[in-house]
Amino acid sequence: MTAQPASQPAFKEQPLLEVRDFQVELITEAGIVRAVDSVSFSIHRGETVTIIGESGSGKSTTAMGVLRLLPEDLAVLSGTVLIDGVDITADPKAINKVRGKTLALIPQDPMTALSPVHSIGSQLFEAIRISGAASAKDKGALQARAVRLLEQVHIPTPEKQLKKYPHQLSGGMLQRVLIAIALASEPQLLVADEPTSALDVTVQGGILDLLLELQEQRGIGILMITHDLGVARLISDRIHVMKDGAFVESGEVQQIVDHPATEYTRKLLAAVPVLGPWDETPPGSRPTQAASAGSSQALTQTGATHE
Ligand SMILES: Nc1ncnc2c1ncn2[C@@H]1O[C@H](COP(=O)(O)OP(=O)(O)O)[C@@H](O)[C@H]1O
Ligand SMILES: [Mg+2]
Repeated sequence: MTAQPASQPAFKEQPLLEVRDFQVELITEAGIVRAVDSVSFSIHRGETVTIIGESGSGKSTTAMGVLRLLPEDLAVLSGTVLIDGVDITADPKAINKVRGKTLALIPQDPMTALSPVHSIGSQLFEAIRISGAASAKDKGALQARAVRLLEQVHIPTPEKQLKKYPHQLSGGMLQRVLIAIALASEPQLLVADEPTSALDVTVQGGILDLLLELQEQRGIGILMITHDLGVARLISDRIHVMKDGAFVESGEVQQIVDHPATEYTRKLLAAVPVLGPWDETPPGSRPTQAASAGSSQALTQTGATHE
């Protein structure tokens, strides 16, 4: 959601992410697949931009391509990707200047993204050490920063959780740990590839609320990848609807939800469970995002105890 302070004119500044005519061709055994076909979009500070589409439409390839996480010899990229002004398509090494600093990834499946044989604490300490916020020798500083990060993602009794191993935490709690790890580097842009898809629907709302809260507090930009228009509707400022590698429609979230231009988007909409009226305003709602936070809270209220 847009969290521009009133003093800052919206969108005068350089976008955090600017993607122009981006194309990814995958070299597969069956031949060359154009998985991403000339897509363009941009994300500014405090914005959430969502790419939505059915499975296989090219969403993850877009995200992984933008992050340059696709194997260099099997994926041919073209077009322009500027991350906070750094052109990462022109120079493959440029991504190292921004990955884990300006930009961080929240992976899809919290159950498999963490190492099962290392404690939550040691994995968080490693992320903090890489971020440069504390050195491996300074155990006190590492511990303090780790506790602070777990507090930010609303994990109760953080000191106790640091000693635990991934199998001892629920999926929702693990996803919060992964978000804490992503936050260790104080990124300006989060790329979240289906961050709630592996979670129980009742836990999803809590994670989405957390992302919105972090965005409101820090003005983080978010690239959200989802197949679920319910998720997109709750969290996005703009939506790009992807089909067969290309965007079939793009626009403000409410415009897409209220007036879908294509049959494909109408089908995605039809698959969304009804969460209550779009403009429902709950008591004590956050003024800047009453519409979306309302529905999101409705989800959280039923889910909070299940995490
Ligand atoms: N490793 C791969 N080998 C062959 N084809 C792939 C591979 N990864 C993705 N693809 C193809 O690229 C297209 C886009 O996939 P993907 O980006 O994973 O879609 P989504 O994330 O929207 O589900 C699909 O047609 C898929 O078959
Ligand atoms: Mg995917």
